[in-house]
Amino acid sequence: MCGIIGYTGHESAGEIIVNGLKQLEYRGYDSAGIAVMDPKTGIVLKKRTGKVEELEKAAAEASLLNGEATCGIGHTRWATHGGVTEQNAHPHRQGQVTLCHNGIIENYKELTTEYGLKNCLKSETDTEVVAALLDKLYEGDPFKAIKKTVNMLAGSFALCIMFDDQPGKIYAIRNVSPMVAAAFDGGSIIASDLTAIINFSKDYFVVPEYHLLTLSDEGIRVQDLKGRDVQPEILTVNWDIKSAQKGGYPHYMLKEINEQPEALERTITPRIQDGLPYLLDDGIDDEVLKNLENIVIVACGTAMHAGMVGKAFIETRLRIPVTVEIASEFRYKDPIIDSRTLTIVVSQSGETIDTLEALRLAKQKGSKVLSVVNVKGSTIARESDYVLYTHAGPEIAVASTKAYTVQIAAMYILGARLGLVKGTMSEEDTRKFIKELQGVGELMTKTLECSDTIRGIANHIKTAPDVFYIGRGIDYTLSLEASLKLKEISYIHSEAYAAGELKHGTIALISEQVPVIAIATEEKVYAKVISNVREVKSRGAYVILISQEGKVENSEVCDKQLYIPVCDSVFGVFATAVILQLIAYYTSDAKGLDVDKPRNLAKSVTVE
Ligand code: M6R
Repeated sequence: MCGIIGYTGHESAGEIIVNGLKQLEYRGYDSAGIAVMDPKTGIVLKKRTGKVEELEKAAAEASLLNGEATCGIGHTRWATHGGVTEQNAHPHRQGQVTLCHNGIIENYKELTTEYGLKNCLKSETDTEVVAALLDKLYEGDPFKAIKKTVNMLAGSFALCIMFDDQPGKIYAIRNVSPMVAAAFDGGSIIASDLTAIINFSKDYFVVPEYHLLTLSDEGIRVQDLKGRDVQPEILTVNWDIKSAQKGGYPHYMLKEINEQPEALERTITPRIQDGLPYLLDDGIDDEVLKNLENIVIVACGTAMHAGMVGKAFIETRLRIPVTVEIASEFRYKDPIIDSRTLTIVVSQSGETIDTLEALRLAKQKGSKVLSVVNVKGSTIARESDYVLYTHAGPEIAVASTKAYTVQIAAMYILGARLGLVKGTMSEEDTRKFIKELQGVGELMTKTLECSDTIRGIANHIKTAPDVFYIGRGIDYTLSLEASLKLKEISYIHSEAYAAGELKHGTIALISEQVPVIAIATEEKVYAKVISNVREVKSRGAYVILISQEGKVENSEVCDKQLYIPVCDSVFGVFATAVILQLIAYYTSDAKGLDVDKPRNLAKSVTVE
């Protein structure tokens, strides 16, 4: 949550920072700010509520974009402490100190009292307290003051700091909240994630926690808090800036939906050898799998829904007990896990705080942790015993789409290897499974062809106050994800129900024209779902039925029908996911909403 960036070098800092903020905007977008160190006038600060484009206008009017300043910091905010106002937007300035922050300072009130900072504060934020404290402790030595300050902070933080008397220098330090940095010919750059720096360098490093970075036009110095120089491990990013741009699509979300076939191919292909799942290149050997007795999958939001599909496959096919836990609940329930449990944490960003803390708890309890993560080098990836990277490429839209389907694919591969190792899947069955898995990209490509029909359906449901999704088994897990997707980007209230459960209460809400999206792709429960569909139809619902090709129903059953290609429902989830994502996308678009940046949300949730 929140995006921060700092640049110092030989080029105009204003433009680099504002462009970087545009890339980081998906992390939070209720207000934005920039501070540059002008050689003539000193620090110049601009802040605006609203999106980064508002800030860009203000920065342009103040001639900051092509100005002479070659050093500056910027921030795009997702409010935690204090409302959305210019005063609360970052950067914050106190005395000699200007800084921006991502994270939450839990003891800001105590620090305010202890150091008598109240009277100098102009905002309601926890961040300004850090600026004020740092200014109070600063006596010309940034290292000393920053060390002293961060040692007093409780909570998570990524800080980019400038001092008035340190021209051309940016200091940065973090705990938990992510930051990556790179030095290149044009200077040094630091940001919350790679999207803001990839234009300048493909080589970067993850900022180590509690290490002080000093960025200057000559490069980046990294020191631990004892003052010793440290050489961070340089990583190379394997995607380019085009992957983080819209590429001709009106929205990132639509682009990312369409990218799924390729993303799946990138995730699946390197894990297949001689037609069988192969995980040794990921450092996952069979010993890890052989001894496990049960699996706990922990994640949040869409990633958790992907975990539910993983569970459906692993339990049904491999007969190994799997529980799926919401990370924020798992942390506080004293979970029953031990060394015989494999904990699988699933996260696109690899930074979700609850998922990260769940991982730490699982390790404490003696469980091995395997993470399914998209962002290379992220905290969750680094702290896991094993990592199975998904290769979705950058996912910019707040609503997760391609990350979800690649997470499912990764869990299928892991499950297939597990089945083979445990002997619950024969070699022949495993080969067949893998072959079909390799075909899911094609199923999705075919399903994408029905985009226009879905756009028509979306036009119908855009005015509905409520939408219900129903399904059984694996289709129920898809309903949960579909409902989340619709809610988050169209602001339509929706609920997902196990189809058989409807008449235990919820059917009372079904009346004339209430849209019900029924998912019935599983042969063994098809007739049952159709019975449930008839129940809602006879109460006036407007029914959209999603089924396999060939299952044609008349108007007594449904008003509209959408089809996925005929296949085992384990693979059908990929095609059905496309339909459900497109329903949400087109509904939001038809309502004229900001699809990629829905209100109140941010891409990665790094605060509790
Ligand atoms: O980065 P993560 O996968 O850990 O994020 C988890 C959730 O915050 C995320 O999936 C969220 O639910 C999506 N915005 C939903 O589209």
